[in-house]
Amino acid sequence: MITLGIESSCDETSVAIIEDGRKILANVIATQIPIHQKFGGVVPEIASRKHIINIMPVLDEALDKAQLKLKDIGQIAVAYGPGLVGALLVGVSAAKALAFSLGVPLLAVNHLEGHIFANFLSHRQLEPPFVSLVVSGGHTALVDMKGYNSFSMIGQTRDDAAGEAFDKVARLLGLPYPGGPQIDKLARQGNPEAIDFPRALMKDNNYEFSFSGLKSAVINYIHNAGQKNISINKADVAASFQKTVIDILVCKTIMAARSTGMKTIVLAGGVAANSQLEERLTEKCRQNDIDFYFPSKILCTDNAAMIACRGYYQSLTGKFADMNLNAVPYLEL
Ligand code: KG4
Ligand code: ZN
Repeated sequence: MITLGIESSCDETSVAIIEDGRKILANVIATQIPIHQKFGGVVPEIASRKHIINIMPVLDEALDKAQLKLKDIGQIAVAYGPGLVGALLVGVSAAKALAFSLGVPLLAVNHLEGHIFANFLSHRQLEPPFVSLVVSGGHTALVDMKGYNSFSMIGQTRDDAAGEAFDKVARLLGLPYPGGPQIDKLARQGNPEAIDFPRALMKDNNYEFSFSGLKSAVINYIHNAGQKNISINKADVAASFQKTVIDILVCKTIMAARSTGMKTIVLAGGVAANSQLEERLTEKCRQNDIDFYFPSKILCTDNAAMIACRGYYQSLTGKFADMNLNAVPYLEL
């Protein structure tokens, strides 16, 4: 089965073609990061317009890379939410037009589920059940994956997402968008023990997260230093902030694996690309005798291969969409 995936929920226009769920034949990603960088974040209106310009050339490039023609496509999977409504609509409209004209089934994929499924593309042997920590620009959640099509939310953030906190703190430090990779890099030169930022909810016996207080603590730290005319060490702020986020994520994820009795943890979403997070979870899982998986770097951030993979497994249950499919910006897991 050849599945074509389309992703346009934020600032990447991506089309991928995969075979039998797990083999990537093409995964073309046109990123808009340089365009949004000068605004310090994604401008939704510009993102939608760029998706419209990019979608057909990206589709053509994916077909070329896979050495396939449109007639070879067996089904179309598209991310229909969560995300920016105008951006999502470009992918959804393209997917509906393709599915209708080719007479093939259409699959409506939840973008967050796609992030988890990126791991099946990176690890051929990986199978559910497992606990997944999904950490992206818009979400922070712990998911109980009982099967390919059976999962439930264990807990999520009450306010900001982890990636959002990385982006906001990076902005405070004068680093360009997206902030996560910049903090990751700068933190390597800093002392993670230099500043003791608050670890909200970490010791609470629940699976919820809260990162807005941490963001405020960083603002206050920078503000107070400014008032006293003390220059801050940006690398120390980055390293201490990053360690705080990772301490919380690692603590709650291990707790979730213990309470569900799962012996496998799977990391997903853009923040999964963080080198320290990968390192710390690898170490903690080894100590706790838990198998640990994370996607290859290119599959951590938004891409259409993960959407196609999720779509493939969804197709096995016969859950197809029709031409009434619409974008759902606040879609839950
Ligand atoms: O999953 P994703 O590509 O888009 C959403 O679905 O939101 O995640 C993007 C987020 C951004 O907040 C970005 O700063 C963060 O992932 N990110 C990182 C790293 N690479 C990307 N955060 C921390 N460390 C990284 N190396
Ligand atoms: Zn994403």
